[in-house]
Amino acid sequence: MFTYAIVRTPAATLTEGISMANLGKPIYPLALEQHAAYIRALRACGVAVTVMEPDPAYPDSCFVEDAAVLAERVAVITNPGAESRKGEERAVEEVLRRFYASDQIQHIHAPGTLEGGDIMRVGECFYVGLSERTNPEGARQFREILREYGYTVREVQLNEMLHLKTGLAYPENGILLTAGEFAGHPLFRDFKTIPIDPLDAYSANCIWVNGTVLVPAGYPATTARIEAAGLTVLEVDTSEFRKLDGGLSCLSLRF
Ligand code: GLY
Repeated sequence: MFTYAIVRTPAATLTEGISMANLGKPIYPLALEQHAAYIRALRACGVAVTVMEPDPAYPDSCFVEDAAVLAERVAVITNPGAESRKGEERAVEEVLRRFYASDQIQHIHAPGTLEGGDIMRVGECFYVGLSERTNPEGARQFREILREYGYTVREVQLNEMLHLKTGLAYPENGILLTAGEFAGHPLFRDFKTIPIDPLDAYSANCIWVNGTVLVPAGYPATTARIEAAGLTVLEVDTSEFRKLDGGLSCLSLRF
């Protein structure tokens, strides 16, 4: 269960964020509305939400998940792989120091790079995606840190997707949502897999929050499949964040 979440209000420079989506620029006032609704959804799921101030120096900084990886016994501060995102992690670390003792805070150091979107937790195991943002040295450091705190790590090579959780989500209960290059992946054969339609691939990025699965609004087939698996769904509109390749998981740290 999660007790806390950290989010960061989008800055007006959000419109300059990194994007491969080809969906146009986000409409800033709408992004703020959607962000507020996202916070309400997290609170409805019973977590206390810390809202960080926006930082216009970092257009992508509302995607706070990439700046850290959190577990009960350790917080790993990342070194983002995207040049324009390096430094976002410092403000996140300041907030995390309210929740974690100094000896529980560890760092990924250059030349290692790692972004939280490349990490998917399943119980005590953390899957780490090797992507354009997370390099083998970042994954190696992550494995060493996590091992020290009693967790295991498994690596997954990415060939197409931005982040591991661009195409995977674990809504607990042994269930895995898979899209794109992860459909039928042998590493995940022991899961009860819910395949996401290729045209709805964006909706694979869902988050489990205390018994409810937050699903992006506008993907009825995905919602129906998750509900058919016996899970409770809450839809949240993220259309403006999708324009920057950002999904539900990217917008918060949950712990
Ligand atoms: N726009 C989110 C990212 O590329 O990191």
